[in-house]
Amino acid sequence: ENGAIIFDKHVLQELAHIPKEYYWPTKDLVATSQEELNEPLIDIGVLLKGDEAAIANAAELVRNACMKHGFFQVINHGVDQSLITKVYEEMNHIFSLPLSKKELARNIPGTLEGYSGAHAEKYSTKLPWKETFTFKYSHDEESESEVVDYFKSKLGEEFQHAGSVFQTFCKALKQLCLMITELLAISLGVDRLHYQNYFLDGQQTMRLNSYPPCKENNLTLGNGPHTDPTSLTLLHQDQVGGLEVLVDGKWLPVRPRPDAFVINLGDTFMAFTNGIYKSCMHRSLINKEKERMSLSCFVNPRKDNIVKPPESLYGKDAPRKYPDFIWSDLLNYTQTHHRVDETTLESFL
Ligand code: SIN
Ligand code: FE2
Repeated sequence: ENGAIIFDKHVLQELAHIPKEYYWPTKDLVATSQEELNEPLIDIGVLLKGDEAAIANAAELVRNACMKHGFFQVINHGVDQSLITKVYEEMNHIFSLPLSKKELARNIPGTLEGYSGAHAEKYSTKLPWKETFTFKYSHDEESESEVVDYFKSKLGEEFQHAGSVFQTFCKALKQLCLMITELLAISLGVDRLHYQNYFLDGQQTMRLNSYPPCKENNLTLGNGPHTDPTSLTLLHQDQVGGLEVLVDGKWLPVRPRPDAFVINLGDTFMAFTNGIYKSCMHRSLINKEKERMSLSCFVNPRKDNIVKPPESLYGKDAPRKYPDFIWSDLLNYTQTHHRVDETTLESFL
């Protein structure tokens, strides 16, 4: 199957007409709204300063955004800008490799890690216009070389440097993740460390995304409309743009900011809040001329953790919206099922 379809981005991006397998249905291609996304831009740095009035203010902005669309951006996040630049350099290098080299790290079905392109989308009827490279960073093991070892084992000794850049980046994102979960807890009025306890011994799934340019970019998508099944997604995007969020039935572009991380709530976090906060519906458009790159960090509880909201978020007036579930069961489900509709959690439960 898929034998005749072209997957090599170096070839694909030169085609005047794309293979029909990359066409997406018109319902997913609905035009971008002209309206402005009234996103909150959160100064997360206030958490470290301990300025309680500023923290309360940030928490209020986060609460409103998460009840409305499940999305916000953070600045003063503590991740070094020069590290982010290095990460993009390494990412660019990896995606520029010939397909045959990238395929050495090809994703093994049933696992998350490795290189993946449209050719791996066995649960999708239309092919995404993107390539990804995924690896994990375990919070519990705190191995100083997990990421380096992975890059070297898949791509060769010469990727030692790339691996150590990504390893450093993962560590910085772990700190940011802990700040975000603390602010989310404050915004929900629960114990500040409530959610941190889940994530501290959990895992980060890191994904490098490359969206090659496309001459028929109005027919295809990098990511169709979806919510992330994970808890939190921390995303950095380059200056090209293309990420859009659904707000009140309209697709609004998320303007890129080099100094910001985009924070998306996923299905699992929605369950952690008893549905008070929304899982963010988003999609990614493709640029006609420029390759776009982004970096996602999906944060998850430990695999055997039971996902349930804190007691203060449900009761007589607000019954439990979702039954308990185990994170690894949802993960297995997403890896073995075709997405029935856009929200994975609903079909899983
Ligand atoms: C994603 O939805 O997984 C990635 C979003 C993006 O790269 O814009
Ligand atoms: Fe996503």
